[in-house]
Amino acid sequence: MNIKNVIVKPAAIASIALLTACGGEQIDGEALAVEKGCVACHGTSGKAIAPIYPNLNGQWEKYLRTQLVAYRDGSRKNAIMSLQAENLSNEDIAVLAAHYGN
Ligand code: HEC
Repeated sequence: MNIKNVIVKPAAIASIALLTACGGEQIDGEALAVEKGCVACHGTSGKAIAPIYPNLNGQWEKYLRTQLVAYRDGSRKNAIMSLQAENLSNEDIAVLAAHYGN
């Protein structure tokens, strides 16, 4: 047996599995971000469309979740985001934070 196959093949299979898992999550999160209108300002991947909006990509998932909960419960106030967050469920927040953050 070729040593290269032993090492490279399982790594290739593992990375395909990982890509598939991430791709599945992204499709759900992206679809929800489109449905909820987040993409209009924060873009599909979290790179905001203009400098007046914060970039969300690269941000901690946990931080994004905390901010969305804070907008929803009124402990963080912003004319735009308070309205955006008021009807999000806990599940929506988790999916959106996982989509935009990491
Ligand atoms: C009309 C434009 C607009 C839309 C639509 C919008 N946002 Fe925002 N978002 C903003 C602005 C502006 C801020 C900065 C608000 C502030 O200063 O607190 C912000 C802030 C945030 C923050 C906090 C970022 C940080 O660094 O603290 C998160 C998280 C966020 N938005 C997520 C979302 C999600 C998820 C959606 C969809 C449900 C959404 N936003 C829809 C404009 C928008």
